[in-house]
Amino acid sequence: MTRRRQIYEGKAKILYEGPEPGTIIQYFKDDATAFNAEKKGTINGKGVINNRISEHVFTRLSHIGIPTHFIRRLNMREQLVRQVEIIPIEVIVRNVAAGSICKRLGLEEGEPLPHTLIEYCFKDDALGDPLVSEEHIACFNWASLEEMQDMSSMAIRINDFMCGMFAAIDIRLVDFKLEFGRLFDGDFSRVILADEISPDGCRLWDMKSGEKLDKDRFRRDLGGEEDAYREVARRLGLMQEEDNGPGEVLDLSSHRSRLRGMPPKK
Ligand code: TMP
Repeated sequence: MTRRRQIYEGKAKILYEGPEPGTIIQYFKDDATAFNAEKKGTINGKGVINNRISEHVFTRLSHIGIPTHFIRRLNMREQLVRQVEIIPIEVIVRNVAAGSICKRLGLEEGEPLPHTLIEYCFKDDALGDPLVSEEHIACFNWASLEEMQDMSSMAIRINDFMCGMFAAIDIRLVDFKLEFGRLFDGDFSRVILADEISPDGCRLWDMKSGEKLDKDRFRRDLGGEEDAYREVARRLGLMQEEDNGPGEVLDLSSHRSRLRGMPPKK
């Protein structure tokens, strides 16, 4: 057996050469980082859950006509995807004020925004992924105008779809991050959705209790991150009932006292 070639190791994933030209294998790790990798840790089982959640979301997005890099899940931690050239822009979609926008603009966490906001960050770890404007993106030619239009219109459609998908399972989609890539066909390329969509890159709040069901539990030392990720997968119907005990309802109450500004659970 020949050892497959590793192409890249990121903070949460490893990329290997795929079985056919133009394909890549994405391996999902349990490693978690925050604040540009200043904080490091592991969330047990995260890779397995994010692989399943991302498969589910990308498959559903493809059903509404969003082109994605996802081909198929291979096993518990790996999926086969199309090889793309990643556009060095993180597209952030925000419905509710949380995280960095609160610090930057002095907003209260949990305030619904007047309308959905799209922000762009330049993907550069050494610079800490700085917020940039469309003018910067055009000026430095990180993406063309047409690619920007494709990314922003897909981001809005993805947000509309995901808000509904999560609302149906009592989860509020606060914000999330998307990455896109160029798929080449000869001299031409088109923009498709790449990377992953999982609780690592989304803020997901329980609709009733306000409980955080995402990586903020790790970022803010709230505890219960494994349970929170599993709860998202369970509500999406991706886990056998026995994985979480038959009919058992997640209880993060032991971690609740450390949650800030959270309304008491009814
Ligand atoms: P922020 O409030 O820290 O700017 O994050 C906005 C959203 O983007 C949040 O859902 C987390 C996600 N995100 C990532 O996926 N990767 C990152 O490096 C950062 C900073 C945020």
